[in-house]
Amino acid sequence: MGRLFFTCSLILKFLHEPLLPMDIYKNHSLKDYNTFGINVRASLFAKVYSMDELRMLLLGYKNKRKLVLGGGSNVLLTKDIDHLVIFNSIKGFELVREYDNESIVKVGSGENWHEFVLKCLKYNLGGVENLSLIPGTVGAAPIQNIGAYGVELKDVFERLEAVELATGKRYIFDRAACKFAYRDSIFKGDLKGKFFITSVYFKLSKQHDINISYGAIHEVLKAKGRTASEISIQDVSEAVIAIRQKKLPDPKVLGNSGSFFKNPEITLAQFQELHQQFPEIVHYPLPTGKIKIPAGWLIEQCGWKGKRVGNTGAYKKQALVLVNYGGASGQEVYQLAQKIAASVEEKFGIQIVPEVNVI
Ligand code: FAD
Ligand code: EPU
Repeated sequence: MGRLFFTCSLILKFLHEPLLPMDIYKNHSLKDYNTFGINVRASLFAKVYSMDELRMLLLGYKNKRKLVLGGGSNVLLTKDIDHLVIFNSIKGFELVREYDNESIVKVGSGENWHEFVLKCLKYNLGGVENLSLIPGTVGAAPIQNIGAYGVELKDVFERLEAVELATGKRYIFDRAACKFAYRDSIFKGDLKGKFFITSVYFKLSKQHDINISYGAIHEVLKAKGRTASEISIQDVSEAVIAIRQKKLPDPKVLGNSGSFFKNPEITLAQFQELHQQFPEIVHYPLPTGKIKIPAGWLIEQCGWKGKRVGNTGAYKKQALVLVNYGGASGQEVYQLAQKIAASVEEKFGIQIVPEVNVI
């Protein structure tokens, strides 16, 4: 009787939980899987190493909601997650086509972004050197069209492959389909949470167009005594790394997700009004006619830079970066972010919105 009961419950267990070739963890801590270091739990957690594994997993958990996680460097986890969290470990770096002046490279979405940049430098492939040292995975880069120091992902993007989470079907998205914009794409809009990006194709240069339009890079290279004609993609990468290390906290030392808010864009009329009141306002005119204001400046003007609230705060060298001094909950960080946004709105009449994905 006991044996029959045991066999029946085993059958029921297998009917309920699919047999899959990978380990599925229950009630799994995500503390080591997000750069804020927030300790929440996922009801189910799995790592996938290939597209086939991913599709099998999706088939096995058809009715469960899913959350894709790469390096966890652009998320704020505010509660336990009753989803299947799928951690991306799909690797690969492949030269798929060569032209006279450029090469097309296919990269597995679970590759570390900065390691990919270093590989490009090693093979003398240009275009991503300004994006050195951005944390996270290759597969997350198109989600918010990562950008830094005058370059965005869209400038080197060719196409991507993705699997629809609901059906397991494979799709190709070219640049137009991705609808890239500043810190935005279709994957943050209409298709939010609907696809798992499995690989990204990049168009990289063999003869390089060095981009040192961003003032700080210019200054670092000038201090090194480099003239314009001597500058290599390695030089640009090293300069970017030096600048970033000076002002951004290392998540291994101090939990953070980079810029917490996007830089707001305001109309010329709104800017002119503000300029009268705050003549020193930092601003960048955009080709669209709008004016971009650095959110870091707005936050600093409201007195938040270096300020600590409980276990959280605005970083002392970059007010746009919110930090976890240790033991903060996602709610605590979120509450700080709300207070900061409210004070910016009160002082300047500008709404700042999170760049980070609040979950
Ligand atoms: P995650 O945080 O794991 O995920 C981010 C979002 O993308 C989530 O919604 C997730 O569900 C989704 N996602 C992740 N992978 C996939 C996939 N394969 N398919 C579908 N959806 C997916 N960003 C910049 O743009 N410029 C910077 O200069 C910059 N500097 C930073 C500096 C620091 C110190 C830190 C901590 C962050 C910085 N960031 C910057 C933000 C972050 O590094 C990027 O947004 C990065 O692309 C996130 O990658 P990730 O793998 O960690 O994504
Ligand atoms: N500033 C202040 N106080 C501060 C921070 C900034 O006054 O505490 C002002 C300064 O005038 C400074 C200007 O803001 O010159 C711009 O600051 P910074 O060069 O540090 O750039 P940012 O606008 O704050 C953006 C991106 C970064 C990216 C850098 C370099 C956004 C939201 N952030 O930051 O991306 O690395 O430019 O290109 O667009 C990220 O997305 O996570 C991120 C780190």
